[in-house]
Amino acid sequence: MPSQLPFDPPEPKTIIEPFRTRSVEPICFSTPAQRADWLAQAGYNPFQLRADQVTIDLLTDSGTGAMSSRQWAGMIASDESYAGATSYYKLEAAVKDIFGFKHLIPTHQGRAAERILFSVGVRPGDVIPSNTHFDTTRANIEFGKAEARDLVIAEGHQPQVLHPFKGNMDLDALEATIKEVGREHIPFVMITVTNNSGGGQPVSMANIRAVSQIAHAHGIPFIIDACRFAENSWFIKTREEGYADKRCIDIAREMFSYADGCTMSAKKDGMANIGGFLCLNDDDLALRCRNLLILTEGFPTYGGMAGYDMEAIAVGLYEALDEHYLRYRIRTITYLSEKLAAAGVPMVQPPGGHAVYIDGRAMLAHIPDAQYPAWSLANALYLAGGIRTVEIGTVMFGRKPDGSERPAAMDLVRMAFPRRVYMQSHVDYLAEVILNVHAQRERVPGHRIVWEPPFLRHFTARLEPVR
Ligand code: F0G
Repeated sequence: MPSQLPFDPPEPKTIIEPFRTRSVEPICFSTPAQRADWLAQAGYNPFQLRADQVTIDLLTDSGTGAMSSRQWAGMIASDESYAGATSYYKLEAAVKDIFGFKHLIPTHQGRAAERILFSVGVRPGDVIPSNTHFDTTRANIEFGKAEARDLVIAEGHQPQVLHPFKGNMDLDALEATIKEVGREHIPFVMITVTNNSGGGQPVSMANIRAVSQIAHAHGIPFIIDACRFAENSWFIKTREEGYADKRCIDIAREMFSYADGCTMSAKKDGMANIGGFLCLNDDDLALRCRNLLILTEGFPTYGGMAGYDMEAIAVGLYEALDEHYLRYRIRTITYLSEKLAAAGVPMVQPPGGHAVYIDGRAMLAHIPDAQYPAWSLANALYLAGGIRTVEIGTVMFGRKPDGSERPAAMDLVRMAFPRRVYMQSHVDYLAEVILNVHAQRERVPGHRIVWEPPFLRHFTARLEPVR
């Protein structure tokens, strides 16, 4: 059919935000002097800042997204019945359609799904291999006196090394672990998509399939930590041979078809502000998990959520798979990353799905590990432009159970983007502030800890700059 247009339409290169805004939230502006006071009052710990002291908040992409008008419409029409609410059945239909598992167990967020699964399925001394366990997953496993073992490929530990799927699991290391500890001590093999603790890096379909085959060959169930499943699907579509013409929803379905269940934080690719779920195929395991669910979360048709939360997720899961959205989402991260890379800012490369990770140790090479370069960079970004980020490095991971301190493998600053919240001009502002700090990086002071709690010290520790 010949074109009906009297001229050739353009093929725009600009990737626009695939939404328009009808409800807005003011941003807080501040002076450098105010920020200096606020950061000192917060004990030089960005977790202790009030949100209204922050201009651009990149602390996390978890539960911080903007919901759509369709999600809000669903929330208003929700059913808050204690048992058998229609909102539950809507969520169940969406989860069955995309994830395909037999049982849905709704929880208040991802870590509740983890806690239930590990309380029921893990015994002391067990080992749970993953590419990289997220902190709450690791903490829940260790709480049960089991071992969380990270088996990401070697490239996953090297910030500057390029690899399309740096979140992949090392298959030889998985085989070796099963041989070493024995299949009877491995209740599950897990994989996190995308690999948050390793820089938001994707896992390939080939790797997911291979991990599944190895686990199943030994009779071990395979569970996916699915928080960012939609972003992972996009990377498979755009980077893995054979997937370019497949829809992200079908890629997601294929990923989950290799697994026996998943844990999900709907605060990420569920596009909701709260919520999560556990999915399982095994009837007996699901029954035991539901028994614990009733004890600690709630009745099986709401678990830890209100009906309106389930409505928001039922709609949000599809919106996260919308390819106009995913193109914009991943482009935002790449766009910032390219601006920083052009000026020589060292980062985890290639950029991941939900965040840009600056290599604090490489950027602030004059600050010794014991004075926390990444933490110091996070504070400098706040002072310079009101940007809140999070250190994923020695303050977070360096304190060992015996009280000693060891520098973390990587000392990173994560800039995680809330979904559908910030626009391109915000990203331009971020780049401007970061490049300003980078140009004066030798002037950024290190920090020392003046008080810390016994565990999870990064949330509440008080620090001071080393002058
Ligand atoms: N798994 C992964 C990979 C995560 O990133 C998170 C949370 C969880 C599980 C736990 O889910 O918060 O709903 O209980 N990550 C957030 C973050 C907190 O900032 O990366 P939750």
